[in-house]
Amino acid sequence: MKPIGILMWEHRLIERVIGLFPEHVARIGRTGTVDTFFIENAVDFIRTYADRTHHGKEEDILFRQLEGKNMSPEHRKIMVDLINEHIHARGLVKKLVDANDRYIKGEDTVNEISGLLESLAGFYPPHILKEDRDFFHQSMGYFSKEEQDAMLHEFEEFDRRMIHEKYKILAEKMMGSPIEWAPPGMVR
Ligand SMILES: [Fe+2]
Ligand SMILES: [Fe+2]
Repeated sequence: MKPIGILMWEHRLIERVIGLFPEHVARIGRTGTVDTFFIENAVDFIRTYADRTHHGKEEDILFRQLEGKNMSPEHRKIMVDLINEHIHARGLVKKLVDANDRYIKGEDTVNEISGLLESLAGFYPPHILKEDRDFFHQSMGYFSKEEQDAMLHEFEEFDRRMIHEKYKILAEKMMGSPIEWAPPGMVR
């Protein structure tokens, strides 16, 4: 498998979860209330899976290695656009967390939450399409078969660390302070 195979496979799960958002927007419209449990799970999915695990491999491995290649101006522009889109998505999720927290405290943030879910539902499909159709396959042309195999190995190693990273963060949250602990090879 090529490294982009892993990224495209992850896109299919992200699409499914984001595909739930319009139904929730409609439900919020009907009931005037927010399912805060759904929002918390959606935020966890986007932050841990779509952003840290998926965008992490894109940015920390694929894009970083592409930086060292003689990319065409067209491909470089797409990569910069993709990085900026990741930043935009992080901003939307941050706002969603904030609006959900304020909703839980009693503030009427229903429209805000609805709008942010709509924005995220509108953001991911074109972002994913741009990567799948305009960038991933093209980007592999800059790497030899050996480099692609090495990248695939780096992806697998990156994923292996994620479960430890996620639950270290949770452990620290439960303990109320940072802890000195890391499995072999964990970067942060
Ligand atoms: Fe991306
Ligand atoms: Fe992606």
